[in-house]
Amino acid sequence: MDLHDLRTPDGEAALAAATDLAGGDPLAAAAALRSAGVPPDLAAAALTQATLRRQAVAKFGASASGMFFTRAGLEQATRSVVARRRSARLVAAGVRSLADLGCGIGADSLAAARAGLRVVGVELDPATAAVAAANGAGLFSVVQGDATTFDVSGFDAVFCDPARRSSGGRRVFDPSAYSPSWDFVSGLAARFPRVAVKVAPGFDHARVPAGAETELVSVDRDVVEATLWCGALAEVPRRATVLRAGVAHSLTGSGLSAAPVGPVGGYLYDPDGAVVRAGLVAEFASTVGGRLGDPTIAYVWADAPVPTSLGRCFAVTDVVPFSLKRLRTLLRSRDVGTVEILKRGSALDPAQFRRDLRLAGQASISLLLTRVAGAPVAVLATPITFEGGQESAGNPGDGGADPREGPVHDASV
Ligand SMILES: C[S@@+](CC[C@H](N)C(=O)[O-])C[C@H]1O[C@@H](n2cnc3c(N)ncnc32)[C@H](O)[C@@H]1O
Repeated sequence: MDLHDLRTPDGEAALAAATDLAGGDPLAAAAALRSAGVPPDLAAAALTQATLRRQAVAKFGASASGMFFTRAGLEQATRSVVARRRSARLVAAGVRSLADLGCGIGADSLAAARAGLRVVGVELDPATAAVAAANGAGLFSVVQGDATTFDVSGFDAVFCDPARRSSGGRRVFDPSAYSPSWDFVSGLAARFPRVAVKVAPGFDHARVPAGAETELVSVDRDVVEATLWCGALAEVPRRATVLRAGVAHSLTGSGLSAAPVGPVGGYLYDPDGAVVRAGLVAEFASTVGGRLGDPTIAYVWADAPVPTSLGRCFAVTDVVPFSLKRLRTLLRSRDVGTVEILKRGSALDPAQFRRDLRLAGQASISLLLTRVAGAPVAVLATPITFEGGQESAGNPGDGGADPREGPVHDASV
């Protein structure tokens, strides 16, 4: 049973019925389809597809209901908010045609085609290529074959999102195990003028091709990927892009600056993971007029709250030397029953620590476990929500025509 069967009139009817049943008891759903006369194989395929579509809503929103997936393809697919932004940047760079090497189910190809690019996706796995072709119908074309032998000379730019899974489905962290291989990808970046590569957020900066820009991307505080913008697509050495509720906020810099170090203050910022992984904590600190309390820890202290969307801000009430006993007494004296625990530079397990605190009061606070000038401390604080419910003010980029315009804190250095 393959995708073709789901696209026949009988298959479409089975998929429509499965869509109404998916999410409930799978055995009952299969039985209901079979008793409606759907052959068992088709019923199973329709239920699998309907279930994947439900799961895909988290990445693709409502358009998931019209797309096709494989399980592995969905897991590896770029969420649409990130793919749209990347495509908008390609358009802004003057790119009109794109080869997507290793296109998977086609999430990046789809976003690029919708942004107006002529796109050809290349996919080695026949079943995945068929799914990409279905998703791309009328928008982009798909070649089933090996990307390493595909002729990219007729394209303005190349995008590659190499598979980072072993044949057994496990994640691989070593770029030499990527597919297409890192040798191929980095070689392409060296010889083709415009190449963009999606890699894992933990990608070793030392492996980034010379002159490339590394962009770390987070979605609603989750760091989801890095894009290496190679050749003429590079604009700055490092960029952090923080997408919150679909709105983009950017910070750029060298990734080499050191933040000033100084005393604690009345406000503490927890920079977004994209900022930290991009090595832009110094640039972030300068946007909020802050400093580090410890040169090795990415918490930024300041004396005034500056609205930002590039991290969370807390109003600090206490900074005390770390001691479970003293902390328990202090929190009880404040009637604290609920704590949000954050940590940087502490080896404690937050869940265990919360149990050890044995809290029973009514109030809630944030507790940040960290170090100041090398010494372990506990910080009691309240999160600040800036005007409009956003921890932000100003003119955030909206991911529109030029995805980089209007950052609130574009601290290019
Ligand atoms: C991470 S996925 C791409 C996901 C895609 N960007 C998306 O958002 O839907 C990588 C894909 O590359 C394919 N692939 C791996 N090696 C390949 C090769 N040598 N040629 C073409 N495709 C390849 C894999 O089968 C896999 O589907």
